[in-house]
Amino acid sequence: MQHHWTGGDLPTFVSHLECSLTGERYPADTLQTVSRAGRPLLVRYDLDGIRRGLSREALASRPQALWRYRELLPVRRPENVLSLGEVMTPLIPLPRIAARLAKGGEILVKDEGRLPTGSFKARGLVLAVSMAKELGVDTMAMPTNGNAGAAMAAYCSRAGIKAYVFCPDDTPAVNIREIAMQGAEVFLVDGLIDDCGRLVGQGEREVGWFNCSTLWEPYRIEGKKTMGIELAEQLDWQLPDVIFYPTGGGTGIIGMWKAFAELEAIGWIGPKRPRMVVVQAAGCAPMVKAWEEGVEHASRWENAHTFAAGIRVPQAIGDFLILRAVRESGGFAAAVSEEAIAGAWREVAAEEGLLLCPETAATYAAYKQSLADGRIRPDDRVVLFNCASGLKYPMPEAGSRLKLGEPVDWRNLARA
Ligand SMILES: Cc1ncc(COP(=O)(O)O)c(C=O)c1O
Repeated sequence: MQHHWTGGDLPTFVSHLECSLTGERYPADTLQTVSRAGRPLLVRYDLDGIRRGLSREALASRPQALWRYRELLPVRRPENVLSLGEVMTPLIPLPRIAARLAKGGEILVKDEGRLPTGSFKARGLVLAVSMAKELGVDTMAMPTNGNAGAAMAAYCSRAGIKAYVFCPDDTPAVNIREIAMQGAEVFLVDGLIDDCGRLVGQGEREVGWFNCSTLWEPYRIEGKKTMGIELAEQLDWQLPDVIFYPTGGGTGIIGMWKAFAELEAIGWIGPKRPRMVVVQAAGCAPMVKAWEEGVEHASRWENAHTFAAGIRVPQAIGDFLILRAVRESGGFAAAVSEEAIAGAWREVAAEEGLLLCPETAATYAAYKQSLADGRIRPDDRVVLFNCASGLKYPMPEAGSRLKLGEPVDWRNLARA
């Protein structure tokens, strides 16, 4: 299967970049980080041009891959398009659980674990690194809780860009090793992801590498945006009632919210939006606290802890964008306990045969909690994002030993 296009200039519709806080305009096609106000830059497009240039019908015949949405993406020159096979990820129903809990409703899991490097971080990083290549970057660095660093390492190797990755020293071992295997230098820091971010910022000033921290460059959002476009297309351009999103830096929720606005502007969807639900662990819930307090910016969460590593993010530079999406959509923010995450992880795997990542187990726990407290309805059509392959995470030990040559108690064995 062809995953990206070959030959021919790309129809590109980028018009400019815009500060997400002040609306100040910046030129596209030059290397940018954050705005003068220190906030994320958003990519803006000539949406009328896209509306005239691309139809939903024309889209339908393209390869089932991320680059099918190229008009809504910023890369200009075909030689800069990177790909490791970014497939469209399946929407997998949970029929047994839905029959038990959600009378008349539907629970769909968008399984992002099928993407290159086993997580949805591939979407953001394939765009960020393609654009870095286009803009002449030769060295990149980022702080990570694991999956983003793995994706950046892979695409940087693909692009011939040198990569430096900083992660907390208790990041899952598989992430640390895959980052190194995929050609990056990896550093283990005795702190959290924002401490790693400060080191990346210091290195940026000292040695001039390009800082690819979450929302510090404009293009990871564009990659994550494809989750929203793809979801709309898979559901025949009818968005679900509720989306539960495990929120760390929030690129995905911000990206999807942007996608829905752009899709409406080009006439592919109507005004209906899903209620966006931010899910965090009770041990690290800055966005939930900010949502409950009704404020626009979240303060740093001290002593952050959760075994769902991807959502252990004490502070997010795009906090106000996350909260805006939640509020504008009529959604809410929910925190779940470590016990609830662990229980939910086992439950979906054992009952439906779908091994989630712990971050997504948190969304399932939040789904059950929200059904119980009436914040969502049993007949809602709900989407949970499975952000990474469950195989990346340390699971509880299992297995009963058998010794060859010793008698087996078959009756007892079959009762287990
Ligand atoms: C598995 C997993 N889930 C969720 C997240 C949070 O994603 P976001 O930064 O888009 O909020 C991450 C990010 O590290 C992750 O690796």
